[in-house]
Amino acid sequence: MIDKINLNYDWKYSENFSDDALLTKFDDSNFQSVNIPHTNKEIPFNNFDEEIYQFVSIYRKHVTIDEKFKGKRLILEFEAVANAADVYVNGKLAFSHKGSYTAFSGDITDFVEFGKDNIIAVKVDSTEREDIPPFGNIVDYLVYGGIYREVYIYVHEEEYIKQMCLSPIDVLEKPTLRVDLKFNKTTKKPVQITIINEGKEISKTAISTNADSVSLDIEIKNAKLWDIDNPNLYTIKAELGNDVIEDKVGIREAKFTKNGFVLNGKKIMLRGLNRHQSYPYVGNAMPASAQIADAEFLKFHLGVNLARTSHYPNSKHFLRRCDEIGLLVFTEIPGWQHVSKREDWRELCLQHVEEMITQCYNHPSIVLWGVRINESPDDDELYTKTNALAHSLDPYRQTTGVRFFPKSHLLEDVYAYNDFIHSGSNAPITPKFIVTSPSKPLIISEHNGHMYPTKSFDHENKRLEHALRHARVVNAAYKSKGHSAVIGWCMSDYNTHKDFGSGDKICYHGVTDMFRIDKLAAYTYRIQQDKEPILELSSNMEIGDVAGSNLGKVIIFTNCEEIKMYKNGVLINTFDVKKEAEKSEFKYLPHPLISLDDVVGNQVENDKEFNFSKKDAARVKKALLDTRKYGAVGAGARNFFTFLKMLFAYKISVNKMTELYRKFVTAWGDKQISYKFEGYINGKKVAETEKGAMNSKSLFVKADKNYLIEDETYDVVRIELKAVSQYGNVLHYDSSVINVETNGIVDVIGPKQIALLGGQRAVWVKTKGLSGKAVVRFTSDDIETKEIEIDVKKK
Ligand code: GAL
Repeated sequence: MIDKINLNYDWKYSENFSDDALLTKFDDSNFQSVNIPHTNKEIPFNNFDEEIYQFVSIYRKHVTIDEKFKGKRLILEFEAVANAADVYVNGKLAFSHKGSYTAFSGDITDFVEFGKDNIIAVKVDSTEREDIPPFGNIVDYLVYGGIYREVYIYVHEEEYIKQMCLSPIDVLEKPTLRVDLKFNKTTKKPVQITIINEGKEISKTAISTNADSVSLDIEIKNAKLWDIDNPNLYTIKAELGNDVIEDKVGIREAKFTKNGFVLNGKKIMLRGLNRHQSYPYVGNAMPASAQIADAEFLKFHLGVNLARTSHYPNSKHFLRRCDEIGLLVFTEIPGWQHVSKREDWRELCLQHVEEMITQCYNHPSIVLWGVRINESPDDDELYTKTNALAHSLDPYRQTTGVRFFPKSHLLEDVYAYNDFIHSGSNAPITPKFIVTSPSKPLIISEHNGHMYPTKSFDHENKRLEHALRHARVVNAAYKSKGHSAVIGWCMSDYNTHKDFGSGDKICYHGVTDMFRIDKLAAYTYRIQQDKEPILELSSNMEIGDVAGSNLGKVIIFTNCEEIKMYKNGVLINTFDVKKEAEKSEFKYLPHPLISLDDVVGNQVENDKEFNFSKKDAARVKKALLDTRKYGAVGAGARNFFTFLKMLFAYKISVNKMTELYRKFVTAWGDKQISYKFEGYINGKKVAETEKGAMNSKSLFVKADKNYLIEDETYDVVRIELKAVSQYGNVLHYDSSVINVETNGIVDVIGPKQIALLGGQRAVWVKTKGLSGKAVVRFTSDDIETKEIEIDVKKK
């Protein structure tokens, strides 16, 4: 493999750019030392001036290039710099780039001095320049600044492989891999391609060349296809003399049709979420492990099978992980609603199409290229070009572009529609024939979002309605046979500009908060998978927290088959989930949300004190449940007469009559009231949750992993904090203040003193060049101290 010089450590950085800082002889000793990924400015969680990171800054890197590399070609690559970069090597401008989300590189061989200190100086413009998409108008997200993805020098041979595009073709008939190689110049050297699967070499092909590109088809015998359950990857090694590069690919056929999405000949309904790549405090500057964690979070935790990388290409680490775990991806060019008339802006748009496709080409997870600016008006002049360019660069993948209006001029293959019609009580989605021609493939690329911003510290009723609205739209898309995908807005809350969000620079549109912690709506998605049993209730069953003490709708989120409900330890009801699902308004979902209408169960019927007949017990139960749901008055006259009748028939005093409600519904005054739910699959208990009055609170602390490895970049880990009751339920009204301390082996990202938000929060800690046992301690005057240990290694 070719050598790679890691440039991710020890940059000198200043927020104050000056021209002389681009020169070799410049004293940068008073600059800050920073590592990549780096954000040009850390920002508060919320309530800040969005212009604080919009400035021009300077990064300088001292690098000695080993004499042994003399005679080789040195390609300096930046994986992303926001928003524009001028790269100087030893005082001379080597190359420039505009755009925040794609990689760029330049040959610096002729700029460097071998065996000496070389200076790479980068002028980073993080202002919102009108010549660069998405800028020129308003944007609903922040484009944070800095060198926020990795930097390397690749050491190639004099003649080298510039690009390798791997395309699976004829997948269902005669699986074949088409390998297209481009070289930096015409070469006469032979090329060798090796295909490896599961560590074993399965083929080796040599081909002679006499051009600056070559193309060959290699049949893959007994191909193991790539799909979402078995994401089999082949490693492809290409050798041009000593210039050796490697990449991975999956053999699969992905097609959007008018009847749905088809993967390897099998129809799959795509259920997805939009992902913004931002995090609290550091914006987009997070290393590989955080990108990987998000991919896993979407697939394994939220249980979706598709992610849209709204509204720009994401990190290669995110995409690689999607390949490995079988999470499909729809990626798109940078932009938001605005299409500029400026020629340079429009040219850049085309450049971004090219960069996106050539850089992300080999990822089998990507099944759609978005070649329009998100939600922009029709612009046939520009979009005819972006679409044609996409097809010429990649004849195998379909294109799309996201609209917020129906019957737009469809130049691409798939109509992507942001369907925000649902506002609670109306239709969940727009019928296909209104949006586009029934003969075209259609996806819902966004829904909900701004239609119902919801915070993790909102009232239970609001959080439930948020979950229900997501469920209504996803359910309706499953029901409609014409939709290939339904992608919710969005995975996590995100920082945004003043024109959007809740006035504190946050759009609370996520099904999880900015810390990737579930809101109730996350459960709408989580229960749709079958790998992890889930059982959660929409309510804490605290009648004092709801208007008129009426709990109203309570939803059970589960993918279990049977639920047993206990009140204070006594089994009072068993639900057959399939039967409940048939009654559910969400019955088209793989796992419908079900209503918990009966909290009384068999209590009245079995009661010895009142001793109702079977028939009367049923009437009383109904009356009690109606009272619980609608209140004594709201439940109506029929209820009143039921109670009146019982008064006479069973000679119950009025006092005793109120006791009925206490005994079977509220359990007021009982020493402890708890409702326990157990979930069963195949007769085996697989999940449980218990709701009841809290009598003790503690701090639940959990790290996503118990190790950190500092390798090509620093590493980070997320630690989740929750104030929980003795049952482990989040205490949504807890705002304990917590101090985050470490033993010095790792650093905390963001403030060291935080308050829980809606009873929960997370912090990320990062490596800082040390190894050993890191201790992260959470102390508080409000809640007990907790500690977590993390093994930190350096590679
Ligand atoms: C869409 C837009 C997204 C986000 C969303 C909020 O119009 O594409 O970026 O702003 O609305 O619901």
